[in-house]
Amino acid sequence: MKFFIDTADMNEIREANSRGWVDGVTTNPTLIAKSGRRLNDVILEICKEVKGPVSAEVVSLKADEMYAEGVALAKLHDNIVVKVPMCEEGMVAVKRFSKEGIKTNVTLIFSPLQALLAAKAGATMASPFVGRLDDISTEGMGLISQIRQIYDNYNFKTEVLVASVRHPIHVLESAMMGADIMTAPLKVFKQMVNHPLTDAGIQTFLKDWEKVPK
Ligand code: E4P
Repeated sequence: MKFFIDTADMNEIREANSRGWVDGVTTNPTLIAKSGRRLNDVILEICKEVKGPVSAEVVSLKADEMYAEGVALAKLHDNIVVKVPMCEEGMVAVKRFSKEGIKTNVTLIFSPLQALLAAKAGATMASPFVGRLDDISTEGMGLISQIRQIYDNYNFKTEVLVASVRHPIHVLESAMMGADIMTAPLKVFKQMVNHPLTDAGIQTFLKDWEKVPK
């Protein structure tokens, strides 16, 4: 299973990457805005730091404009994946990108049928947003097992990228369900590291070590 970090903050990316946790990066317009920097500058810096796919999102809502934006983004670096929102115009753009070998990540997926349509259009990755579903009292992870089953039934190559991950249980269930990728903020990676028995174990070993003759 691949782990992506969901941020445009270079300090967070460097920190996670130095620990070997980062197979790729996802960004979105909100995360780019938070960075306070220009899209191209951040994306290029991320591509220099991380050796893996980096999703950069288009903001046009018309297929031709999405296509033009995506081509410009893809030209920045070989690892760029053009992130396209799930909508009819988006699917036109995805089909075109796919024909030309430009990688895509269809974002804002909230139903299994949207994921099926994204795969049929030729998406490289599909991003179901589990946390935002949980937020409206709809069980987000159920969507992941539905998409996994549909893609396996028909042998779609589109990768299931679990997005809007809010806590370690989302990651655990994604792994159990066979999701290809999950993307999470740094906070979730840190929560995954910690276990109270590990902390207690380290303290005991250190204490006992003091008794060892030196
Ligand atoms: C994924 O690519 C998105 O950027 C992200 O996971 C959205 O997460 P949020 O619902 O926490 O904003």
